[in-house]
Amino acid sequence: MEDKMQILISEDELQKRIKEIALEIKNDYNDEEVVFCSVLKGAVFFTVDLMKNYDGPCYLDCVRVSSYEGENSTGNINLKIPLKKENIEGKNIIVVEDIVDTGRTLKYLVEYLKEMHPKSVKTCSLLDKKARRVVEFEADYVGFPIDDLFVIGYGLDYDEKYRNFPYIAYVKND
Ligand code: IMP
Ligand code: MG
Repeated sequence: MEDKMQILISEDELQKRIKEIALEIKNDYNDEEVVFCSVLKGAVFFTVDLMKNYDGPCYLDCVRVSSYEGENSTGNINLKIPLKKENIEGKNIIVVEDIVDTGRTLKYLVEYLKEMHPKSVKTCSLLDKKARRVVEFEADYVGFPIDDLFVIGYGLDYDEKYRNFPYIAYVKND
């Protein structure tokens, strides 16, 4: 598989864009507190860099869902690590995701979060594969819209491998 990988977004491009998104979010919330809710495990790398560049009052929370096995979304969302209502109620939540694909995960999470009565909920995804949408969903902040490619690196995995790459690569089809 390694010989079929091609860099799609370099480390420099990622870091530059993440700084811009952090500023964009700061301009929207100013001095209001926000909770960055990272969708484990894929969004860990993005969440860390986003928060390191975020110059405002903020908290970190994590949620874990899974819907993917290999290259295919199974369609069922499993909530593996849930959120605590006391950490969500009355707060400004920004769900941080690695990629929006079918849209099922973020749509599900936004609905799940709303039941805990946050002050507001927004979503921030590093990547967006618009062409693959199955349910209607638009993220509020998007790093890079990408074509319908299977991507790995910077948190994104193929069967748990390659998350450690500091860039985003795609797997070429033969
Ligand atoms: P969705 O629910 O279909 O939008 O899927 C979102 C989840 O699928 C993401 O959080 C990723 O974990 C996974 N995913 C979607 N596309 C890719 C990809 O190209 N590479 C790795 N994981 C992906
Ligand atoms: Mg994920």
